[in-house]
Amino acid sequence: MGSAALDSSDERVCTQAAPVPPTCRFGTPLILEDLLLDPAKDSSTKHRPSKAHKRMVLAGLSLSVAMAATAASAQEAAGDPAAGERVYRQCAACHSIEPGQNRAGPHLFGIVGQNAGSVEGFRYSQAMREADIVWNEENLTAYVTDPRGFLPGTTMRVALRDPDDAADLVAYLRTLSSE
Ligand code: HEC
Repeated sequence: MGSAALDSSDERVCTQAAPVPPTCRFGTPLILEDLLLDPAKDSSTKHRPSKAHKRMVLAGLSLSVAMAATAASAQEAAGDPAAGERVYRQCAACHSIEPGQNRAGPHLFGIVGQNAGSVEGFRYSQAMREADIVWNEENLTAYVTDPRGFLPGTTMRVALRDPDDAADLVAYLRTLSSE
C-alpha cells in the first residue's frame, strides 16, 4: 500500500541528487552533506561546520537510511493475518488474547507498539523486565523465531522455525488492538 508511494519518492530523491549510481538511496545523504558544507566558503575562510551542524547532517543521514530500511522491511513483513491466526494456536496455551488474562505467559492483546515486559500482573523474567524494547514487527519476529537468542535470560522457550509463519503471526498480532 504505502510502498508504491515510498518508491516513487525515493526516485525523486535520486533524480534530484543525480548523477548518482542506482544505489543512490544510501549515497544521497553524502551528496547532501557535500552541498551543506559549501566548498567555496570553506576554502576562503577556513570555515568549518559546527558540531551541531554535523550532527544535524548525521541525523538526516540515519533518518533516510532508516526510512529506506522501513520501506524494505514493510515489504518483507507483509504477512497474512488469517494464516497467522492459525499459527497462533501454538502460542494460545500460554498466551491469551484477552486483556487482563494471563496464563503461563502474559496476554498479547495490544502487544505491537507496547513496551516489553509491561503487562500488569505478570511475573516476567528479569531479562524481560529490564529489556528496553518496544515491540514491533521486526523485533517480534526475532523474538518468536529465537527467544533466547534475541533476549538471553527470557523464560519463553518456544520458537517458530519458519520465518513465513513468523511474518503471518506478527500480522495477526497487529490485529489484536483496540485502535
Ligand atoms: C510454554 C509457554 C509459552 C508458549 C507456548 C509461548 N510463549 Fe510467549 N512467553 C512465555 C513466557 C513465560 C513469557 C515471558 C518471558 C519472560 O518473562 O522472559 C513469554 C513472553 C512473550 C512475549 C513478550 C510479552 C511481553 O509482554 O513483553 C511475546 C511477544 C510472546 N511471548 C509471544 C509468543 C508467541 C507469538 C508464541 C507462539 C509462537 C509464544 N509466545 C508461545 C511463554 C510461552
